Amino acid sequence: MIFKLKALVAGFLSYQLYRFFISSEIDYKELLKNRNVLITGGSSGIGEEMAKYCAEAGSNVVIVARRKSLLDKVATDLRGLSPSPTSKMHYIVADFSDPDVSESVINEAIQFLGSLDYIIINHAIIPSSPKDVLKWSGNEHQRNQLASAMNINFNSYVTLATHALPYLHISNGSLLVVSSAMIDLPAFYLPYSTSKAAMSAFFTGIRQEIIQTKTNISVTIVHLGLIENQAGLAGCQQISASRGVDVRAILSMYAATDQKETGREIIWAAARKDAYFYYPRCQGLWILRVLRNLFSDPDRAVNTLESSVLYILDIKKKYFW
Ligand SMILES: NC(=O)c1ccc[n+]([C@@H]2O[C@H](COP(=O)([O-])OP(=O)(O)OC[C@H]3O[C@@H](n4cnc5c(N)ncnc54)[C@H](OP(=O)(O)O)[C@@H]3O)[C@@H](O)[C@H]2O)c1
Repeated sequence: MIFKLKALVAGFLSYQLYRFFISSEIDYKELLKNRNVLITGGSSGIGEEMAKYCAEAGSNVVIVARRKSLLDKVATDLRGLSPSPTSKMHYIVADFSDPDVSESVINEAIQFLGSLDYIIINHAIIPSSPKDVLKWSGNEHQRNQLASAMNINFNSYVTLATHALPYLHISNGSLLVVSSAMIDLPAFYLPYSTSKAAMSAFFTGIRQEIIQTKTNISVTIVHLGLIENQAGLAGCQQISASRGVDVRAILSMYAATDQKETGREIIWAAARKDAYFYYPRCQGLWILRVLRNLFSDPDRAVNTLESSVLYILDIKKKYFW
């Protein structure tokens, strides 16, 4: 047993070291230069950061979302960040709750870019009010939430990928989808977790089919933990308000990572053509964060430890045992 544990720890550490050194040797910006990139959910949050990283690297970028004013602002920022005056930046206003929109988004992106090297499917409907995270009772609101989540977080992903794959086939391109660690912790927001789990399963299958055809398209599935941005914090606040769990405990337990860093790491995973990418890398291993903070910020380390223990006891009492 001890031997197996040691072997597991040694394997994990070697893998992380390997990833660290391999990652630091790759010139990601060179890989992304002059590439044609389509990013959904690019009006805010992680999608906006991914678009900015690609623009800085010299990619041609198309972003998609519903809020025109935000898209307009982000597109202006992208033009300012690009090292090349010939790089192309464009935005598409689209609502993925409409089942016909996904195909027209791919057509418009191709019309503008000419070809497609990367498609980053990242948009999502996330809990926006305390009643979105109540325990499942199957009431009308919850059934509508589930239908919306399946439509936006699953069906539109499938349709976008279906129409993008022939172009990725030509370019040996990369398809990346953003899933969530919530698929392993579905108790808080069943519609969201269920849609993300379905999406992850679908793209795992698609990747296997692509591998069998021996084409060079890559499919990357990203599992994100808690990200310290507006959406992440809002989600925690909803859970906190509806379930009475201390929001600081949730934040400490899943200790939230910076969204800019997250955006860059996701793009790197697509450029490396990873099959799966988990970020933050030590999701749930809060003890590692405690140790890390012990050196840089002892107060936070104590707080993380204390809140995490309280959080576990709270969850245990309320939901599981
Ligand atoms: N933040 C976290 O802690 C966290 C954790 C795990 C996973 N994730 C995942 O990370 C991805 C990005 O989330 P984020 O944190 O960056 O949140 P965000 O800032 O709210 O980004 C969501 C994006 O999706 C777009 N969107 C939402 N509904 C849409 C629709 N019906 N049609 C078209 N676009 C739509 C939004 O733009 P408009 O409102 O302008 O349409 C926005 O650009 C999501 O897939 C999310 O599930 C986030």
